[in-house]
Amino acid sequence: LAACGGGEEGGGSNKSSEEYTAENPLIIKFSHVTAIDSVKGQAADKFAQLVDEKTEGKVKVEVYPSSQLYGDNDELDALVSGNVHMIAPSVTKMVKIDPRWQYVDMPYLFEDEEHVQAFFESDVAKELMNSDALAANDIKGLAFWPNGFKHFSNNKHPLVTVEDFKGLKFRAQAGQVLEAQFETLGAGSATIAFGETYAALQQGTVDGAENPYNNFDTMKFYEVQKYLSTSQHGRLDYAIFVNKSFWESIPADLLAPVEEALAEATTYAQELAAEENAKSLENVKASGVVEVYEMTQEERDALKEALQPVYEEFEEIITPELIEGINALR
Ligand code: LMR
Repeated sequence: LAACGGGEEGGGSNKSSEEYTAENPLIIKFSHVTAIDSVKGQAADKFAQLVDEKTEGKVKVEVYPSSQLYGDNDELDALVSGNVHMIAPSVTKMVKIDPRWQYVDMPYLFEDEEHVQAFFESDVAKELMNSDALAANDIKGLAFWPNGFKHFSNNKHPLVTVEDFKGLKFRAQAGQVLEAQFETLGAGSATIAFGETYAALQQGTVDGAENPYNNFDTMKFYEVQKYLSTSQHGRLDYAIFVNKSFWESIPADLLAPVEEALAEATTYAQELAAEENAKSLENVKASGVVEVYEMTQEERDALKEALQPVYEEFEEIITPELIEGINALR
């Protein structure tokens, strides 16, 4: 992405707050790719509702879910050009701007939800959010929202040992770390947009995928996958990014309640994520169409061991500071 300014629509407005009313509100366009009932979908709607309440309708957040406005290939470009004001991508997608965001894909880097939350509140996370790379693209990072641990699924056979991955092809989100993860397991991968993943699994373009239970459930991937293993091998989490020029043009007395709403929506997302993922695992089991294999700790440890070469290859790119910083929060 080229560094550029706010773009034609990105400059927001230099109006004073008095010019915004419930009839003529300031519009914040928020685009995302998951379903309305997903963790991200619910938290986005909560944010919109809180902004409406706190600004008495003077600021309206228009939420566009399900890749309706932009898919995950183009939402970042749309943010940079100011055609959308706010996105909440899976942080993997930020690899286009700063490869360090692939920290999230490093196998078994995070131990549990508490570890992830400690990272969100850490100095290393703040450093990533405040990086020059984002500012150079007129992007401002505002908050982290969790989703959950990813788990492997596929259509051929249960995935238990490393050998089971050989020769299979998986859908990947983006980036070289995920590509290397599958390669290290002897599998292939293809980068496919989230909104096109159901069709790719249905048509057999790929055999498998990796998702948090909630995405697997709310996207109905269980309809087109036969086996799910509780591998818990990586994370899928979000960060809230806004077009910096647009954001800074919001009158201060309207920005304060909007930022308050975001802080509350962030707490909401943090409370919701683990619970929704647990519910989704139950839904998937209840669907009766997917065989869920519960991996033992020993089986996960064997996968972790097999995936160590990914660290050798990417530690310098993700940076030892970031990886060690995350490890220190265990
Ligand atoms: C994906 O591509 O798997 C993710 O971006 C989906 C999500 O949760 O946003």
